[in-house]
Amino acid sequence: MTTTPRYALSQDLFDRAASVIPGGIYGSKSPGFSVPGRFPYYFTEGSGCRIKDADGHEYIDYLCGFGSMILGFGNPIVDDPAIEQLRKGDLLNQPGPAMVELAERLTALIDGMDWAVFAKNGTDATTLAVSLSRVHTGKPYVLMAQGAYHGSANWCSSNAYPVLRDKDEVRLFPYGDVAALQALFDELRGQVAAVILTPYHHATWAPQQMPPAGWHEAVRRLCDEESAFFIMDDIRANFRLNLHGSHRAMGAKPDFVCMGKSLANGYPIGALMGTEELKKTASNFFITGTFWTSTVPYVASLACLNEMERLDVVSHVQAMGARLKQGLIKAGMEAGYNISCTGPDAIPFMTFDDDADMWHNQEFSAQMATRGVYLHPHHNWFLSYAHKESDIDETLEKAAESFQEVKKAFQGEF
Ligand SMILES: Cc1ncc(COP(=O)(O)O)c(C=O)c1O
Repeated sequence: MTTTPRYALSQDLFDRAASVIPGGIYGSKSPGFSVPGRFPYYFTEGSGCRIKDADGHEYIDYLCGFGSMILGFGNPIVDDPAIEQLRKGDLLNQPGPAMVELAERLTALIDGMDWAVFAKNGTDATTLAVSLSRVHTGKPYVLMAQGAYHGSANWCSSNAYPVLRDKDEVRLFPYGDVAALQALFDELRGQVAAVILTPYHHATWAPQQMPPAGWHEAVRRLCDEESAFFIMDDIRANFRLNLHGSHRAMGAKPDFVCMGKSLANGYPIGALMGTEELKKTASNFFITGTFWTSTVPYVASLACLNEMERLDVVSHVQAMGARLKQGLIKAGMEAGYNISCTGPDAIPFMTFDDDADMWHNQEFSAQMATRGVYLHPHHNWFLSYAHKESDIDETLEKAAESFQEVKKAFQGEF
């Protein structure tokens, strides 16, 4: 693989990393998950909706810290109180008052949720929800959708080594297939602790899927029939579909809600929320982490929630996403391509119809990167409050050029 000179410093950093960090860059940030040799691997700064790579190129960013930067990079309303708290002290052994305030704020805000516990990553929240479901019900099995991502823990990640045994009691069903879910409940009668779902299906390397009519109601009914819990993993979608939880937007009634990412505009905090029924089990369960009581992220989260509410961020990100989607479909058609933009407007993903191997998506993303737009070829994108109409329109101009380049590269063939 040769790297284009544009990304020489990124490549140099990666080569150095590879000798001291296994894999150089791991997981969803690894070069193999983007467009190897034709994508920046390292970034140095961000402001609003723009980021700068290690080679000094600027991009309009549609990854938003994998969803976290909902207000944009360097937002002073969030950063100023966070920095002030940092100067006063961050990890002060015991929690700060902001932890209590955040739990009060979230229980008042998020539909149907009576308590909150906090951690660092989304994976902490989903793993805790699964553990609490098992402990409360005394049953072992957890059901999740094929291709769903609930974090990097072994029970749910792509680490499929039988010796780890973490997946022994996790079973998969095709997203949206009520009969298949019913069949799993029938097979595992009396043994299912929980079903874990995202508000809609956002598998990587694939178009996104909105829930079919009646899906969330059917999940609720099946869970109730078996006294199993319904865990809503809202980590990727939270605060882009509805300020009160994506389950309100989807008409779902979960027992747990897992939150993270945009909860604090990039500061590290995850939350698990639950209903009154589960509170005693949660209070008896050992939950902790050295950094989970750091005060700065709680302060940032409170400021972020207030700002999201004040600005009606949900309406803005949806409107910007709709403008982007419509423009991409039009620009694609003008170049002779049928384009699909799937998922909610605020969290879109674009694919070329008939592009089974996704090479067209790779080429398109590489062309956009060359023109200063950072999109991902295999992972959904995100809109933030910092994306304005002018940013979307600039993106669409670059998209029109990039579609032409894709056409040249593949000579109109799939
Ligand atoms: C739906 C969903 N659940 C859980 C996670 C895990 O969150 P984290 O990476 O913060 O552990 C993610 C992260 O992308 C996610 O998208």
